[in-house]
Amino acid sequence: MSKTTFSSKIGLIMAAAGSAVGLGNIWKFPYIVGENGGGAFLVVYLVCVLLFGMPLIMTEFLIGKRSGKSAYGAFRALSGNNRWQWLSWLCMLTALLIMGFYFVVTGWCFNYLAEALVNAFHGMDMNGLTAHFTQMTSNLPRTIFFSALPVVMTAAVLWFDVNKGIERLSKILMPLLLLMMFLMAGRVLMLDGSNIGMQFFFRFDFSQITPKVVMEAMGQCFFSLSIGMGALITYGAYMPKTQDVPRTSVEVIILDTLVALLAGVIIFPAVFAFGFNPAEGPQLVFVVLPAIFEQMSFAWLSAVLFFTLLCIAALTSTISLMEVSVAFLAEATAKLKHPMDRQKSVLIVSAVVMVLIISCVCVDSLFDAFDEITSCIMMPLGALGMSLFVGWFLPQDGEKGMLSKEKAIKRWARKIFVFFLRWIVPAAIIVIFLNSLGVL
Ligand code: PHE
Repeated sequence: MSKTTFSSKIGLIMAAAGSAVGLGNIWKFPYIVGENGGGAFLVVYLVCVLLFGMPLIMTEFLIGKRSGKSAYGAFRALSGNNRWQWLSWLCMLTALLIMGFYFVVTGWCFNYLAEALVNAFHGMDMNGLTAHFTQMTSNLPRTIFFSALPVVMTAAVLWFDVNKGIERLSKILMPLLLLMMFLMAGRVLMLDGSNIGMQFFFRFDFSQITPKVVMEAMGQCFFSLSIGMGALITYGAYMPKTQDVPRTSVEVIILDTLVALLAGVIIFPAVFAFGFNPAEGPQLVFVVLPAIFEQMSFAWLSAVLFFTLLCIAALTSTISLMEVSVAFLAEATAKLKHPMDRQKSVLIVSAVVMVLIISCVCVDSLFDAFDEITSCIMMPLGALGMSLFVGWFLPQDGEKGMLSKEKAIKRWARKIFVFFLRWIVPAAIIVIFLNSLGVL
């Protein structure tokens, strides 16, 4: 990405929202809600978004904006020493592991798009669709081929520096995705028995809240909002000086949460109306979505359009993921004898990612492990590090202060922000960690 990438404020919002909105909202959120008892998870998730989302998105944007650097150089530039460099490494490793499984799921979406194009789901019932999914994922060469496709596309975007085009494209496509999801929700809510699904999704049952639910909700919040691994630091670095950080953060949060909620309102009523099990795991949306399209008018067109939009939503996330590792490699080797330019970094990162993808495709438990470890451990750890870094170790006010140039943040809001970074965010992450380990 070049310095000129973000021509406008809306462009930056779209890029950051493009990073946030992706498979996390449409694929992962519904299945994780389904596995964790519905409404109880939803409430804990929304609390996490309020608690962590705002302070941490702002923190990453500010780290980027103030340092003008990516996750590799930002911590050193701001602290003036190397003591926080472990955070850069953590960001880069987290990005790599996420890409390992994220590209596999993106590959499933491309696979489904190809099949939607030839109307392959027509006339299949739930059993047929379930068998179809299993068959697809057990065909290893096909899965690897379809996962490699988005890797090549993402690498091409970073290689040719055409992010501006993507940014423009998502200005049109994001609203289209929202519109499409509203239409789907409308259709699903007319199905017989859809109210049971709505109850499942929205009924809050306190007894369902366990330490595991809380941990998973926190992990999902970090994953869905792309926080704790430096993706948003990069975008902060490209922010125009006049960009209003709190406002941009709120907009990203609202958009991301809206898409996740819509995904739930589409999937759960359909799950119950079709007599399916909400706790089916990662295959949930891939079985339920084609069945929903069969119920819609213009079935073929709806399926093709939706899977196209889903693939693009996934790509705008993979671009931000790969950028973290590419920038890391290029900047880390800049002072070496053989520095790597951007293109070489793109090649090396793509090769490593391919190895990770193939491992995830061949070993199921690796797929699950990468997913779980990144969301529930690495991203919260990254966020913990960043909040301590900004909250305790950097000056907030004065000439060098993190907030000194942020006219849009009022005095009272500054106090709350710093208080959250110093106390609330670190304490909440530590308590949730200890709780899930059974220490508390
Ligand atoms: N937030 C993205 C999603 O919901 C995933 C992602 C995580 C992207 C971390 C970038 C960084 O799909």
